Amino acid sequence: MIKKAVIPAAGLGTRFLPATKAQPKEMLPIIDTPTIQFVVQEAVDSGIDDILIVSGKGKRAIEDHFDRNQELESILQEKQDEDAYNAVRHIGDMANIHYIRQKELNGLGDAISYGRQHVGNEAFAVLLGDTIIDSIIPVTQQLIDLYEQYNQSVVAVEEVPQEIVFRYGVIGGKKLTDTLWQVTEMVEKPDVDKSPSNLAFAGRYILTPEIFQALEDTPPGKNNELQLTDAMIRMGEFQSIYAHRIEGKRYDIGNKLDYLKTMVEFGLKRKEFADELMGFLKNIVKS
Ligand code: G1P
Repeated sequence: MIKKAVIPAAGLGTRFLPATKAQPKEMLPIIDTPTIQFVVQEAVDSGIDDILIVSGKGKRAIEDHFDRNQELESILQEKQDEDAYNAVRHIGDMANIHYIRQKELNGLGDAISYGRQHVGNEAFAVLLGDTIIDSIIPVTQQLIDLYEQYNQSVVAVEEVPQEIVFRYGVIGGKKLTDTLWQVTEMVEKPDVDKSPSNLAFAGRYILTPEIFQALEDTPPGKNNELQLTDAMIRMGEFQSIYAHRIEGKRYDIGNKLDYLKTMVEFGLKRKEFADELMGFLKNIVKS
């Protein structure tokens, strides 16, 4: 059983300045819902109710968002605005959320290592706080199902165009089924011509607790940061790691163009906006 998740959300969001000067990138909304709320919802929908958010400087808004706000709740009750009241009340009750602050920005691996004490000696999920994945079965649940079968770490991957593999961690492996690989190789942000494949880490992982020792033993890698991928390589020397090609669509909110596309697609999924937004887009294309 996977009961705990770690959500790293400490990055500066420099690709999104100036919007992220005074607010966390994880709070950038998709229409009316902050990105990180989708991520927490995915964990909850996968049966996880204990979540550790690794935050940092300037991330207070995340804590406020998942806290109760009784003053706001009573105002909404007085106004009899039931929809807004329910939406606000629901957020405060989503899960048991804990916070720890990453003291220095030393990379994704370093952020995960802050989970060691909270997670203890059990396998856990990692969900990157700036990535939303839309799917019928939550991707974290897809990974949990495989973890329960194999009892080893399982990471989510997706095929990306070969020319952009340098933005990701990439695996090479032995194909077991249409959607499952046994990982034999991992590289963080490979050169396009040296990448073992175009199967890129998609921001969701189930990791066995040995990752914490591996993180401790791993020196800084790409960009002089402690890379989760490098620690997984070390852990992979002692145990198997599986890669699951996600069934779902990934939205990378850490990148402006993808953010814009996400907003449009999510707008089209909303009944109250779909027709008008589609008409608007068609008019733009026509002109
Ligand atoms: C991180 C990981 C990388 C992964 C990516 C997915 O990179 O290090 O392996 O493919 O997230 O979004 P970042 O985007 O933080 O540079």
